[in-house]
Amino acid sequence: MTQTFDHTPGAELSAADLATWRERLRAVRTVVVLTGAGISAESGVPTFRQAQTGLWARYRAENLATPEAFEHDPDLVWRWYAGRREKLLSVQPNAGHRALAELAERVPELVLVTQNVDGLHQRAGSREVIELHGSIHRLHPFGLAQPGADDSADWPQPPGEQPPRDARGRLLRPSVVWFGESLPERALAEAIQAAGRADVFLAIGTSALVHPAASLPLLAREQGAWTVEVNPQETALSARMDQVLRGAAGQVLPQLLAALA
Ligand code: APR
Repeated sequence: MTQTFDHTPGAELSAADLATWRERLRAVRTVVVLTGAGISAESGVPTFRQAQTGLWARYRAENLATPEAFEHDPDLVWRWYAGRREKLLSVQPNAGHRALAELAERVPELVLVTQNVDGLHQRAGSREVIELHGSIHRLHPFGLAQPGADDSADWPQPPGEQPPRDARGRLLRPSVVWFGESLPERALAEAIQAAGRADVFLAIGTSALVHPAASLPLLAREQGAWTVEVNPQETALSARMDQVLRGAAGQVLPQLLAALA
């Protein structure tokens, strides 16, 4: 049965919200967290499905984040990522990112899985982050299906107007997972394994539209985890979560953390 503790985004969590949360965290062993673009929204990073602005207003993110788009016009896709990355380097992690980094110190084990490529969890102090959709901050040769650590290259500074090439003349591309590409196998295996042993699973700031990430909370619930959604909006997950906290991550997560003090 889903307990929905509705409250207007930005309001205080109710005593019932906090009591349930505190009770569920008391004897917890493993907390697994899945974050999506929503946790970075309060840092000023547009969510993935938000309309693009400025020069990019006429493009949909889904049409630029593909191998076909890069093959067709590498310079255009490169400039889009260079602009996004520059923006990301200029924003700061928010209270939601910081609360998760702190929560990891309060429970025996916290496994943080993110669909975000922005690196803000790491900048907020989260040490091990499973980046299911890769990272905008790394590059690898175009055409490699599962790049290994030694295929990784750094961005040139300044990024320039077109993608650089590696020593073997291969075009370098951002190490984010594009539509139609498979997820990094090791990251996905680790995320599935963690969801399978979660006592509590938090789904934060994700529309739960993209699989396999979106199935992780359900996998956790099937094996008995207490599942919590933190999102100002209803999502495809909401009705199947045990606890729904209708609010912004930057407002809700610090309250959940404070409740454990
Ligand atoms: N706090 C919490 N959630 C928020 C906030 C906030 N302050 N602001 C917005 N949200 C929620 C929105 O309600 C929405 O449900 O964040 C979610 C963002 O959804 P998407 O933009 O679809 O992003 P995401 O779920 O991460 O997309 C998953 O799909 O397109 C691919 O690779 C891309 O990683 C992305 C994946």
